[in-house]
Amino acid sequence: MTVVISSITDLRQRLLPVRRDGKTVGLVPTMGALHLGHRRLIELARRENDTVVVTVFVNPTQFDRNADLQGYPRTLEDDVAICREAGVDFVFAPDSAEMYPPGGQLAWVDVPALTEHLCGPARPGHFRGVATVVMKLFQIVQADRAYFGEKDAQQLAVIRRMVRDLNVPVEIAPVQTVREPDGLAMSSRNRRLTAEDRKTATTLSQALFTAEAIVRGGERSVDRVQAAVLPLFHRHPQIRLEYFSIVDAETLTPVETIDRPVLIAGAMWLGATRLIDNVMIAPV
Ligand code: PAJ
Repeated sequence: MTVVISSITDLRQRLLPVRRDGKTVGLVPTMGALHLGHRRLIELARRENDTVVVTVFVNPTQFDRNADLQGYPRTLEDDVAICREAGVDFVFAPDSAEMYPPGGQLAWVDVPALTEHLCGPARPGHFRGVATVVMKLFQIVQADRAYFGEKDAQQLAVIRRMVRDLNVPVEIAPVQTVREPDGLAMSSRNRRLTAEDRKTATTLSQALFTAEAIVRGGERSVDRVQAAVLPLFHRHPQIRLEYFSIVDAETLTPVETIDRPVLIAGAMWLGATRLIDNVMIAPV
């Protein structure tokens, strides 16, 4: 049975006997509007833990644009139905006041070096909001394992580093990006695309797969990979490319030569919708 909980105290109380009995807890943090990507995380959590907690919280502190926060899809009823079907034990869906009580948030978690590139510059404060809310969820749930998608590779890197540097007793389980049949990475934001933009949206994954193929073919120069791939975006005047970067997979800083594991990552806008995606490559 799936129990929906909105209070931190209630959730803690429910989890006490679970831990006392030595049962493991798996945590899947989400902002709701659940799709097959989230489902994969939940399935893995279900398989690997005795008890599964899915959190649904549209975290205001990680939004850098108010319009994005206001327009973010909120579909709690459908989300709970999906969780029920997937055998989730607890859906934790607090409101903003429960997570950020009046009086304000004075303590924050920052992982600055990992947020200097990729999405960091365009979204000031975003990763600080993410790291802080995820730390709060870790403290509230005290899970054995927490599941995060590789689709948000920079977020995953920030959380891993936070866990390492602050000795948080949780195992981070990375989950491969789940894609639509045409390659588009699944995202809650895809549902905001017009039919026309939905078609153009595949440009991002196509560009990443093209870059990956070029690197696998032996190319090691980032400039040459970029020169080959950027025209794919320029073909569509409606795309506003924010970045298309090749960075060291661990430090997330730009490289010139692909001589170590790298993350190829991009962000682009279609109308008011921002899409991100990435592939990881370890050249041999
Ligand atoms: P949200 O965008 O709802 O994503 C929740 C989790 O699902 C994240 O770990 C994300 O990487 C993963 N995910 C999303 N799309 C995916 C896909 N196509 N394939 C695999 N995994 C996918 O990310 C957040 O929420 C928030 O920043 C959060 C971590 C909950 C903090 O507020």
